[in-house]
Amino acid sequence: MNTFFFALSIAFAILSTSVFALHKPYYRRGHHGPARLNTPRTDSTNPPGKWAAATNRAKGVVSTLSTEDKVALATGIGWQEGPCVGNIAAIPSINFPGLCLQDGPGGVRFADLISVFPAGINAAATFNRNLIRDRALALGAEFKAKGVNVALAPGMNMVRSPRAGRNWEMFGTDPYLAGEGSFETVMGLQANGLQACAKHFINNEQETNRQSSSSNVDDRTTHEIYLHPFLKAVQAGVVSVMCSYNQVDETWACENDHILNGLLKTELGFQGYVTTDWWVNMEKYKTLAANQGLDMVMPGASFYSGNVSYFGPALIDAVNSGQVPSSRLDDMATRILAAFYVQGQDQAYPAVNFDSWNPANGQHVDVRGDHGNLIRKIGAASTVLLKNSRGALPLGDGVKSLALVGSDAGPNPDGPNSCADRSCNIGILGIGWGSGTANFTYLVDPLSAITAKARSIGANVASSLSDYDLVAARNASMGKDAALVFITSDSGEGYLTVEGNPGDRNNLYAWHGGDALVNTVAGVNNNTIVVVHAVGAIIMEAWIDHPNVTAVIHAGLQGQEAGNSLVDILWGDVNPSGRLPYTIAKSPSDYSADIGPNHDVDYTEGLYLDYRWFDKQNISPRFPFGYGLSYTTFAYSGLAINKLGGDDGYEAPTGPGSSLSGWLHDDWIVVTFAVNNIGPVDGTEIPQLYLAPPDSSNSPPKQLRGFDSVFIPRYASSPVRMCLSRYSFAVWNAANQRWEIPRGTYGVRIGASSRDGKLSGSIEI
Ligand code: BGC
Repeated sequence: MNTFFFALSIAFAILSTSVFALHKPYYRRGHHGPARLNTPRTDSTNPPGKWAAATNRAKGVVSTLSTEDKVALATGIGWQEGPCVGNIAAIPSINFPGLCLQDGPGGVRFADLISVFPAGINAAATFNRNLIRDRALALGAEFKAKGVNVALAPGMNMVRSPRAGRNWEMFGTDPYLAGEGSFETVMGLQANGLQACAKHFINNEQETNRQSSSSNVDDRTTHEIYLHPFLKAVQAGVVSVMCSYNQVDETWACENDHILNGLLKTELGFQGYVTTDWWVNMEKYKTLAANQGLDMVMPGASFYSGNVSYFGPALIDAVNSGQVPSSRLDDMATRILAAFYVQGQDQAYPAVNFDSWNPANGQHVDVRGDHGNLIRKIGAASTVLLKNSRGALPLGDGVKSLALVGSDAGPNPDGPNSCADRSCNIGILGIGWGSGTANFTYLVDPLSAITAKARSIGANVASSLSDYDLVAARNASMGKDAALVFITSDSGEGYLTVEGNPGDRNNLYAWHGGDALVNTVAGVNNNTIVVVHAVGAIIMEAWIDHPNVTAVIHAGLQGQEAGNSLVDILWGDVNPSGRLPYTIAKSPSDYSADIGPNHDVDYTEGLYLDYRWFDKQNISPRFPFGYGLSYTTFAYSGLAINKLGGDDGYEAPTGPGSSLSGWLHDDWIVVTFAVNNIGPVDGTEIPQLYLAPPDSSNSPPKQLRGFDSVFIPRYASSPVRMCLSRYSFAVWNAANQRWEIPRGTYGVRIGASSRDGKLSGSIEI
């Protein structure tokens, strides 16, 4: 942690908080139903599934604990007072060894001999549930083997503004895709005993003013877009949730009864515990945030409280004076211990064997296994081929001379970890910056990987690794069979600023004059292939239609095997199947949402995020959401839509846990079709299902409600089956505070992107 930048951001946050406090407009856009000032207690008589035994056991243990012990379970021991970024003290009398909480999501932060995985946004770009699960299983194994109890992952905020700094940690602009990413990641992380911590709850969609601003979102949009990934995390059995730095409707997220007690613990029936984000600010309830639904304070004390903990002794006093009922403290301790038991962490769980602050004190356990192979595979499967003209790719036998141009083609001369939390963009960009990153054990740059491949096939490689030396770029590229230009765009968490970008990106253009570099190379080489390593969308209008730009590979952030994953795509060992988890616009102003510069960040676009907005406004994107090319061609046929029966009403049940009810989520309608690989090479297709609701539902023109990743050998065909639930059709009725299904005719569009209706049908609901 760079304390200087952290202190600066704290100072700014305090300043802006007090300035806004003077003149704070009360802003409440949505109807939120009645306030619920009581945290629903864990229900040991009827908790969902796996929680029953763990909650009962935790209750029994909690009944033996003193108030001090229960408070200790809920209070971090302080920053850098233990080996992890967050630490809960041991309670020997109950054989509780304490908890280690560590970032994530990209790898085990501050540890050595670990893997740096493809970013969350790349996991989403695979549109492949199995690969997302496999990534999380491998990540989970590494966290566990280092002795981490709680991985501060996954990130499940939405990509709202394309400039937002932490977008690359998340799963894209579409709630359904992000929800599937959340579900599979939680399932994988928790499969072998680790606790996952879904973050950041909720509406932490930008870095600018993140510790002071208020995200104001109407209730329907909250439910249909921003809450959905958390619903999926709860469905997957996530045991902890991190509340976010920002305010929601003018109340800090971590002391916000509506979102913690209401949305999370009542509507979603969440049985685990809520921890704060680190040093979170609170103004209204502070210690009494316990009554608002908060269960744990991290890392212990807060700068905003004069370095005194909101919990700790203050919570003991509040319980003794009755301001926080002792039953609530029992519930907090029960939730924390139940999460520990439900994951089986009391049974032979590894002890922490690394030290975030003094690496030399660690035991240097190599936890990587064979994860490099998986990382290479996911890196390739998440690579999106955006343009491929004149058969430029895959590179054929005729390509015997290559130029590689741009700093992103090579290594960082000072090593891949030379900047704190990856806060520089020098050399191959494998991951963004901030707490979501980790230390590379190694990082394969494209130059070494491509040089090794070229040697094996008798090709030559020339390079110019400067972004700015256009003369050298031209000289390297002239006369080569293909010239690969590497450009980047980086971003990260707001406590670090990189090249003037304060977390959020300053703009959507390639860094380091990338557009000029591409045009320079394209000016002298008629087979110019652009490789983009970026945290999200960049604007490509300066060169995308240049006739000499024959191919564009959007590789995102591929992690430690970046160079090898790229080689697999370039020479066709892997047929590209990555799809854009966001829209690439022609102009930044085409997007419906940008970073809010003021205290109030009003989500005025409502449901019309990303492609939903482009569709509504009839704006042509450069590349639509869900888009990506293959080296083969797929044909679709035989759409059939069948209801499984059960026309039993159109309003969902209400009450605790109702948003997870079987009635809402069980399979209801089955959609089948066939995909045919009519080309000469094997390939993976990503068919996508979009529902176009009737006008009466007042919804976006179409919304993603299904996708699959289907490997199909050349000239073969594969059946595809997708199930829709009532929830696929449901809208949140804010006035009635329940899910309802608008009646009418729904269009069913099947295709290879949000703008590709290869098959269409309809169903009466
Ligand atoms: C971030 C969290 C992170 C925590 C602990 C905060 O600054 O917002 O995502 O888990 O720090 O490092």
